[in-house]
Amino acid sequence: MAKKLFIKTYGCQMNVYDSARMADVLAPLGYGPTDSQADADMVILNTCHIREKAAEKTFSELGRLKQDQARKQAAGGDMIIAVAGCVAQAEGAEIMRRVPEIDIVLGPQTYHRLPEMVARATRARDARRGQPRAFHEKRIGAGVLDTDFPAESKFDHLPEAMAPQGVSAFLAIQEGCDKFCTFCVVPYTRGAEFSRPVEKIIAEARKLSAQGAREITLLGQNVNAYHGDAADGSTWGLARLVREIAEKAPQIERIRYTTSHPRDMDDDLIAAHGDVPQLMPFLHLPVQSGSDRILAEMNRQHTADHYRRIIERLRDVRPDLALSSDFIVGFPGESDADFAATMKLIEDVTFAQSFSFKYSPRPGTPAANIEQQVPLEVMDVRLQALQAVLEKQLIDFNRTTLGKTVPVLLERAGRDAGQLVGKSPYLQAVHVTAPTTFIGAVADVEITDLGHYTLGGVLAAGPAAMFEPERAIA
Ligand code: SAH
Ligand code: SF4
Ligand code: F3S
Repeated sequence: MAKKLFIKTYGCQMNVYDSARMADVLAPLGYGPTDSQADADMVILNTCHIREKAAEKTFSELGRLKQDQARKQAAGGDMIIAVAGCVAQAEGAEIMRRVPEIDIVLGPQTYHRLPEMVARATRARDARRGQPRAFHEKRIGAGVLDTDFPAESKFDHLPEAMAPQGVSAFLAIQEGCDKFCTFCVVPYTRGAEFSRPVEKIIAEARKLSAQGAREITLLGQNVNAYHGDAADGSTWGLARLVREIAEKAPQIERIRYTTSHPRDMDDDLIAAHGDVPQLMPFLHLPVQSGSDRILAEMNRQHTADHYRRIIERLRDVRPDLALSSDFIVGFPGESDADFAATMKLIEDVTFAQSFSFKYSPRPGTPAANIEQQVPLEVMDVRLQALQAVLEKQLIDFNRTTLGKTVPVLLERAGRDAGQLVGKSPYLQAVHVTAPTTFIGAVADVEITDLGHYTLGGVLAAGPAAMFEPERAIA
């Protein structure tokens, strides 16, 4: 009988990708997806540790899960609980100690070993079945904990079969980070930079394409630091990889990559934005701060002007390029003048969309030990001011699309009958009335309505080429 798997994902797109691959790994064991956490035979929380609230959310979610598990047990069933991802990596032993009902804690680099962990956890559960509840509570630390950074790559041990991701797919090409920004946990939770070999990536891109993907987002914590081995023994950067995907997976009409670091925007990658038509004119390039003093304290290894110059060069080769960024306000020691420099950079560059956060001290990171932390009230005021400007820029950017005809990749049925939802080149959601046979195609849509986060439009022209799911790849 099929067993039901529920995966709840927090954090970045890499975690979304990892969740999909964990489901692939568990499929041969008879686990299939379910929408209901309470009914699931196995629940995986794929966690994020990037800011304070992220870890808190994990613990409150685990509280609810324990109740679901107890209800299932009372009804004669059972539920395996696993915690994966970056909180698991950073605080695995603590999680096991605080929540003994958990069966498995695994880090981001060991999910290829999930089948054997599940087998061990199932054996342990079977042995305990029918025992009084006090028995469970005594077995502190009895679960399976695997937060190694194994020498073998998980990517080499993933099953060939992948569940289709749909029209827009993620493909992890790089993982980990060697940059060590002083505020960030990622180098500790994901480990050292690792790039997958070129051939494996091309094969996965072609497979996704054969499954119906028309857009691929290449993922990595530091994706433009990509330096993968090619079959001829040479090392390729991200630009060369993008060109190869454009050539070898021709049905992939849109290529994106995230998240990149300003330091790794090399000449070839900037040039690719001008001469690879599949590369979308939208780039997420986090700057964090506009103050050189704070950027140095953050160990970002670039200045505000270095960032401005990269943007100028990108806009020279791709004038319609729009940008998004991440910002941190209230990094330790940030003065009014430092904050003003960030506001100035935002006015100078202009962003179509952005993410901004209050600085959150992370255990084990150098910035957490700086004495001069910025008071919360100051952070609040700065964040509000920053978000007001970013919000205005977002609205202004959306307004520029009104009355224009933009190519929209139609992804899925919308909420209203006859309506499809797709994405503009700038990742804006666009609603349009169109037949479901158009799903998977790029159609010209005239933008007629501006919502806050979504646009509405009417079909200006049908898709140039219809989606042919069964077309074999050569
Ligand atoms: N690799 C990406 C970012 C990964 S984390 C990069 O190099 O930019 C995503 C975002 O979370 C970061 O860009 C940063 O803005 C934010 N962030 C990371 N650590 C943080 C912290 N300790 N406090 C507040 N925001 C943080
Ligand atoms: Fe974190 Fe900096 Fe690495 Fe980005 S580049 S993941 S912010 S350490
Ligand atoms: Fe969070 Fe880990 Fe991604 S900390 S942002 S899930 S790399």
